[in-house]
Amino acid sequence: MQLLHGRRSPTKFRRLWDIALPKAAVRAGMAASPFFLRAAKRAACTIPCLPTILERPTMKTTLSFANPAEVETDCLAVVVLDRGEKDKTQVSVETSDHAVRGAANEVIASGEVSGKIFETTLLHRPANLKAKRLLLVGGGKAKNFTSFELRRLAGTAVRFLKPKSIKSFALVVPDNFDAADMVKAVVEGAFVGNFDPDTYKSDRKDQKIESLTVVARGDQAPLQGAMDEARVMGESQNFTRELVNEPSNRMTPTMLAERAKQMSKEVGLKCEVYGADKIKEMKMGAFWSVAQGSDEPPALIVMRYEPANAPEKPVIGLVGKGITFDTGGISIKPADGMEKMKYDMAGGAAMIGAMRAIALLKPRVKVIGIVCATENMPSGKAQKPGDVQIAMSGKAIEIINTDAEGRLVLADGLFYARQLGCTHLIDAATLTGAVVVALGYANAGVFANDDAMYERFKRALDKAGEKFWRMPLDEEYKEMIRSNIADIINSGGRWGGAITAAMFLKEFAEDTPWMHLDIAGTAWMEENKAWIAKGPSGIAVRSLVEFVKDFAG
Ligand code: BES
Ligand code: MN
Ligand code: ZN
Repeated sequence: MQLLHGRRSPTKFRRLWDIALPKAAVRAGMAASPFFLRAAKRAACTIPCLPTILERPTMKTTLSFANPAEVETDCLAVVVLDRGEKDKTQVSVETSDHAVRGAANEVIASGEVSGKIFETTLLHRPANLKAKRLLLVGGGKAKNFTSFELRRLAGTAVRFLKPKSIKSFALVVPDNFDAADMVKAVVEGAFVGNFDPDTYKSDRKDQKIESLTVVARGDQAPLQGAMDEARVMGESQNFTRELVNEPSNRMTPTMLAERAKQMSKEVGLKCEVYGADKIKEMKMGAFWSVAQGSDEPPALIVMRYEPANAPEKPVIGLVGKGITFDTGGISIKPADGMEKMKYDMAGGAAMIGAMRAIALLKPRVKVIGIVCATENMPSGKAQKPGDVQIAMSGKAIEIINTDAEGRLVLADGLFYARQLGCTHLIDAATLTGAVVVALGYANAGVFANDDAMYERFKRALDKAGEKFWRMPLDEEYKEMIRSNIADIINSGGRWGGAITAAMFLKEFAEDTPWMHLDIAGTAWMEENKAWIAKGPSGIAVRSLVEFVKDFAG
């Protein structure tokens, strides 16, 4: 394996593996597991990779219909809401279980609890409860409380408890809400909170919640269904986060493709990977123009989910930007913050995670996942500003800025998806800094050339609890990407930069219903939050899966 500092022998690599992971792994009791051995064996061969999420023991989830007071657990978590009007606070413990409310009475009467969102109050040996501890988690104003907040509260409880070496807890779902929605939110949020990006810390503690009990009321079957589905969502989102978290020397296009293949094998997807020759043979001139500058070979990853019971149409195409490192190319980026550009494959990783969830949840609809993976590097072989490239569709592109590379690889990815018969397209990409200027970190951008498709996506967003804001695609913007010498330029400049990037992609989606997700501001959390660690967020995975499920009816 070629690394920056010369060749590393398999033995040497095994040593690295022995040092880098297992301390944590041994502590987690995995060293002797067949999964771990399998992963270790794999590590000794060519591609160094961590065990996939499926190979690692992840959080166990159990549904309970017991009275909260009767649940034997290290910690019982309940939601506290503020039911007061305007500025007045009136704290309410969200359960009809009198014993639990009683146990929280004293601390609430003391005025220590406000119910503010993400506020945590931990009590030991709560009176008349079987639980060893009682955790009150603030959920904010009752009138604003939904499954969106509950998802984050579950993550908050996980992130509050795990550094205290608490390995299992139970969370009480508030009454008076759709129980299936709430159970799903709790499990998804708990998985999100259970992920940490400290993979390569030699003193990595691997403090994880190993077992979550969700205490709810309702019918067993639908709630168990919601729980199982949420588990797949949470694990798949975390799989995406693992991929995004890896630095570019450990997540080259080849390695990303290898991970996609391995995942596909585990869940029963067809997966093909094409290299430089095939990319050139298929005349993907836009994709190749980015890849040509790098010594690292590109990979076109194609994952197919084609269940026998699905109709011929629709075929949904999920196309991801997989730039494993974006230096900017000849239009090179400033050094400050360039290290972050390892996450420029987050759109591609989202598609790989979404395909995993889709394969496991088995909706009756065909889906093809495509990831255009390459580095964007400056070199003697790199493309230069002013170069003209012919995309697979035949359109001639004048390269104004080699740093506008995402739209180039996606142009061919989208066109190829249509050639494969996709009737509906969604792409996801960390495409522009401009979308961060426009929307900040709270919302990702969504663009659509089809209102019906957007409405369907909006429903998916509500179910998934993710925030995207629709941005315009008016014809007026098109003149900003007109070229003198070719059909189109690859950079419309500063103003409306997220929109002109989307307008560029629209030219390659043509009349196929299409949506574009610009996740540049949301794929990486800049700070630790109560409910999620700083680092890769796994944005878009859940919404994409909900969207595909909605299509299947
Ligand atoms: N990968 C970047 C966009 C990006 C910026 C992602 C910040 C995440 C955080 C993309 O390839 C890029 O460089 N875009 C340029 C486009 C410009 C040259 C037209 C940008 O946004 O500055
Ligand atoms: Mn770039
Ligand atoms: Zn980029």
